[in-house]
Amino acid sequence: MRGGPVIAVDGPAAAGKGTLARKLAEALELPYLDTGLLYRAVGRLALDAGQDPAQPAQKFAQALTPADMQRKDLRTPEVALAASKVAAQPAVRAALVETQRRFAAERGAVLDGRDIGTAIFPDADVKLFITASPATRALRRFLQSGGNTSAADAQAQLGQMEEALRARDEADASRDSAPMCVADDAYVIETDTLDAQAVLAEALRFARERLVTTRG
Ligand code: CDP
Ligand code: CDP
Repeated sequence: MRGGPVIAVDGPAAAGKGTLARKLAEALELPYLDTGLLYRAVGRLALDAGQDPAQPAQKFAQALTPADMQRKDLRTPEVALAASKVAAQPAVRAALVETQRRFAAERGAVLDGRDIGTAIFPDADVKLFITASPATRALRRFLQSGGNTSAADAQAQLGQMEEALRARDEADASRDSAPMCVADDAYVIETDTLDAQAVLAEALRFARERLVTTRG
């Protein structure tokens, strides 16, 4: 048995996975890993090397360092798209599996991503799937990026962001290797009408109930 519980937080882009996972980890005193950063860092390294991220990128995944994951330039739309392209490659995913499992080995962990409850930890103690409509998620990402433009520009930017999120979700859900999907035993939280605090309260309620069953 692991040294602590594993809590999987999966879902589409900008659903609020990271925000929730970080707070859950704090409340339950568990380490937290944003697994999207692994794929973003690999995508970034491919771009830096002048390589099309759809081309084989496993050498970047195999050589990934903690410093690569701490870079400040991983949160751009360009890197998100590159991440999705390298993430579709089975050899890239294979190179990152052990890092994710090892992270939780000692004390358990909260991990957020796309395939945590389905492929990385099919036996996770708690599985959450966090989602919202593309329009809501685009607005969240827009507000995160600063969002101080004229009304007309904002409308155009929002439209572009929603289109980019939809395309990335579609790619992530339709790839052959560990596609994004809801695990059979996941608890789905639709967050369109919930703020981050309400999502945390609901997730904590479910997690505590499950942890009593799995951990006593
Ligand atoms: O924050 P956002 O939801 O926009 O993206 P992210 O979680 O940082 O993930 C970036 C990309 O990495 C996703 O679009 C996926 O293609 C990939 N990813 C994945 O395949 N598996 C994971 N466990 C996490 C991310
Ligand atoms: O990790 P992911 O890409 O799924 O999303 P995030 O970066 O955690 O959250 C996107 C933005 O949505 C953040 O600015 C949150 O404050 C906001 N938000 C949220 O996380 N949950 C809600 N229910 C409502 C808004």
